[in-house]
Formats: sequence, structure tokens, C-alpha cells
Amino acid sequence: MVEIFPELLLRGSVNQDVLERADMIRERGMQGICLVGMGGSSIAGEVSRALLQGETEIPVISVRDYRLPQAVNREWTVLVVSYSGNTEETLSAFDDARRRGAEIFAVTTGGRLAELVHQDEIIRLSSGLQPRAALPHMFSLEYTLLRRLTGLPEVDLSDVAAHLKRAREAWRDGKPISPQSITSALIDKIPLFVGWRHLAPVAYRAKCQVNENAKAPALYSEIPEFDHNEIEASGRYSASRIVPIFLRSHLEDERVALRIRATTEVMREEGADIVEIPSLGHDSLTETLAAILFCDEVSVDLADRLGVDATIVRRIERLKRILAGEG
Ligand code: PA5
Repeated sequence: MVEIFPELLLRGSVNQDVLERADMIRERGMQGICLVGMGGSSIAGEVSRALLQGETEIPVISVRDYRLPQAVNREWTVLVVSYSGNTEETLSAFDDARRRGAEIFAVTTGGRLAELVHQDEIIRLSSGLQPRAALPHMFSLEYTLLRRLTGLPEVDLSDVAAHLKRAREAWRDGKPISPQSITSALIDKIPLFVGWRHLAPVAYRAKCQVNENAKAPALYSEIPEFDHNEIEASGRYSASRIVPIFLRSHLEDERVALRIRATTEVMREEGADIVEIPSLGHDSLTETLAAILFCDEVSVDLADRLGVDATIVRRIERLKRILAGEG
């Protein structure tokens, strides 16, 4: 599934009814956009939110809980995302959105969520994937809808998909660095992914992928916040087998680049081994998606080396069965 990441970016489209409704909502105006989803179904929204932040004046928030913040009312648009369409927290937040009279869009393969929405409210996903592996598919559809809702020009994702294929060929030859070389540094260690701005959700995604695919502990943080707390713990990283992995960006200005250099200098003085993943794209969108794909490959490679099956999430499924009263 990770192998077809670039193809998944181009799979499916947002149907015309949905786009026309989005145009109508945009013309009428809205107070904000609220993204709802859990786990693998939340990441595309987190990534979109980070990318849109510098482009739109409309506030975009995300919720990973049973209920929506009190501020969300009929003047808001709520994008409810669940790959299965049956996730408890997501369905509860959906009910909340309906009760408050918000405009709703649902992104799903089916399930209960699909039964609760109208034709011009649903973006239907292809089934048969793991939710987390469907990220490029969910992202392209969500991002298209969000750009339309916020009045931003459409983005041609075929150029991005082509870039991902070229970048992947290069990194598999070790240029500038191979996912396997990162995995080698992670055996029996705990990665701490650190990202700046649009790469902060990528750091979070990388942590989740190591958790779910390799069934291994992982942490994440974001810079500059890292420098105001996490850095104080760096003297214990080596003993705790924590390996900080900094996701670097071409878009870092002098101030941010200096901050990251100073941060890693302090941590090295504390005995921490630091890994850096250089920027793998030329703008925020390609850099984000390339870093996600790169870290996805790290997580799957780590799963292989640890001898675990990346595709099953036994504990998540067991938990959902218990909560559904199925023992
Ligand atoms: O990756 C996974 O399988 C999970 O994180 C799921 O995405 C999460 O449990 C939510 O389920 P769904 O995506 O079906 O709403």
C-alpha cells in the first residue's frame, strides 16, 4: 500500500454536487472549518490544515474527540472523516455537528456515516486499504474540497505524484539518504520525530506509522516549542534509547535554521545521537508528501526488521470490539 502512495494521490475525485455545495457555502461565508477524524482518518486533515494556514484567513481547527468545541455552530463547516464510517468518536462528533446545524461534508468508504448523509455531502473513498495507507487518497480529496471551500486555486497533484516517484527512486539509491539507513538507527530505539510548521503533522504521522505499522513506541514533537521543554530531557535520551529525528525543510528561514542548529548542538553536548532527514521536496506541499512517504517506508521497513505484520492492527480492532459490546 505504501508502494502505491503516488498513484493513490491521483485516485478518485470530488463529485460535482459536493463541489457546487462548497461554492455555495463559500459565497455565503463561514466562520470556520472544523475537521473531525481519528487516527489514520485524522492525518490528512492535520496535513491540510498546516498547509492551508499560510494561505487562508478562514480559521481551520481539528477535533479528535467525541464532541465539537462550543464555538462550532451553524456558521461553521464540519468535515467528518472516517475510513470505515463506523468510528465511535467520529460518529458522535458528527451528531453534534448535525444538532448544531453546521454544514457537513463526510469523507468515507461507507459504514454508518454514509447512511447518515445526503448525496451532496459525501466524498466516497475507495475501499480495501488500511485507513493510514489511504492517506494520499484522503488527502487529495480533502485538500481539493478545502481549497474550494476557502476559495484557493486548485492544485495539480499529478506533478506532485511525479515528483514523489522520482524522489523515491533517488532515496532508494541513498540520495540524499535512504529510509533503510534511518531504520538501522532505530532498531531497539525509540524515535522522536521533530518537525517545524508544515512538517509538524508529518512528525506526528511518522510517530503514528511506527506505532501502527511496526508496533513500536515512538514520540513526536515540534520546533520551536521543543526548545522550551523537551530539550531539558535530552541528557537522558541516550540512556532511554531515544533517537531524535529532525525533519528539515527548504523553507526554514535563517532564524529557524539557526534555532535548529543551536538545538542539535545543545543536545549533542548532552550526549544525544541525532538523525536528520533533509528536505525531499521544493515547496511545502511536495516536501510534506515526500517526507510522509519517506517516513512511511521507514515504518514498514522497521516492521519487516522487527518481524511484525504492518497491515494488521490487532489491538485497535480488539479495543473497538470491546467498546461495541462484542466481547
Ligand atoms: O490506522 C488505523 O487503522 C486507525 O488509526 C483508524 O484510522 C482509526 O481507528 C479510525 O478508524 P476509521 O479510520 O475507520 O475512522
